[in-house]
Amino acid sequence: MAIVEAARAKINLALHVRARRTDGYHELETLFAFVADGDVLTIEKAAEDAFAVTGPFAPALAGEGDNLVLRARDRFREAFGVRKPVAIRLEKNLPVASGMGGGSADAAATLRALARLHGVSSDDPALMRCADALGSDVPACLLSTTAIGRGRGEALMPIEGAPGVPVLLVNPGVAVSTPAVFGRWGRVDRGGIATDMSLLDAAGLGRNDLQSPAIALAPEVAAVLTLLEAQPGATLVRMSGSGATCFALFQNIAARDAAAERVRVTEPGWWCLETALV
Ligand code: C5P
Repeated sequence: MAIVEAARAKINLALHVRARRTDGYHELETLFAFVADGDVLTIEKAAEDAFAVTGPFAPALAGEGDNLVLRARDRFREAFGVRKPVAIRLEKNLPVASGMGGGSADAAATLRALARLHGVSSDDPALMRCADALGSDVPACLLSTTAIGRGRGEALMPIEGAPGVPVLLVNPGVAVSTPAVFGRWGRVDRGGIATDMSLLDAAGLGRNDLQSPAIALAPEVAAVLTLLEAQPGATLVRMSGSGATCFALFQNIAARDAAAERVRVTEPGWWCLETALV
């Protein structure tokens, strides 16, 4: 029996960079949220190991030797001392290197699927340790629930979400390098995230400190933000993660869908997805 796991797209409703650390990472305070759509991972027992990528963004991953999915599989095996061959299929629906945690969400879905296959509890601390070793966003993706992330993003405190809020995701088709974007952070701590209010109020008062650095490397990001900000009914417009994907939250589904229509007409080459917070 095949195990299917959703690898939901992550968005950072706010991302405050607080300090540069000596280990090459940055100290963050971020509001992690997840949307209903994303990649889809399928795992089943097989005679020998296999890995196949399908979906609209499969070509972007072709030839990538150290895919995060395979690293997650190998780390799980090491941590739990198992070695059953598995066939893994990844349906790649999200643009790669786009600030929505795609690779991290895929790795987290691999850990969850293998845990189910091997009867490991989803809250086994060793599973979280695997996630932590695979990347800063993988622990948040393992939980896939609204949370404040601190440290390099791995220290998580789940908070009340805003399920159902309509979201439009737009990516201009440029991949930005996360280390390069962090490297351009201006080294000014502009304060933390408000914790004494609702998620959406805190997000509204927040910011993404990587937005200006990303725009310096990929000016298309500014064009996406400008177009989204012009859409009636948009309540919050911001870049996610280190970019280049930007999101807009909307008052209602009709406003979101009308905006999606206008974005597609104005910029037919951009990737655009209507979804909602979970
Ligand atoms: O943890 P991950 O491998 O996903 O991070 C990729 C890169 O992003 C790091 O090597 C680092 O350059 C940058 N990063 C950072 N601070 C963080 C998270 C990531 O500087 N909190």
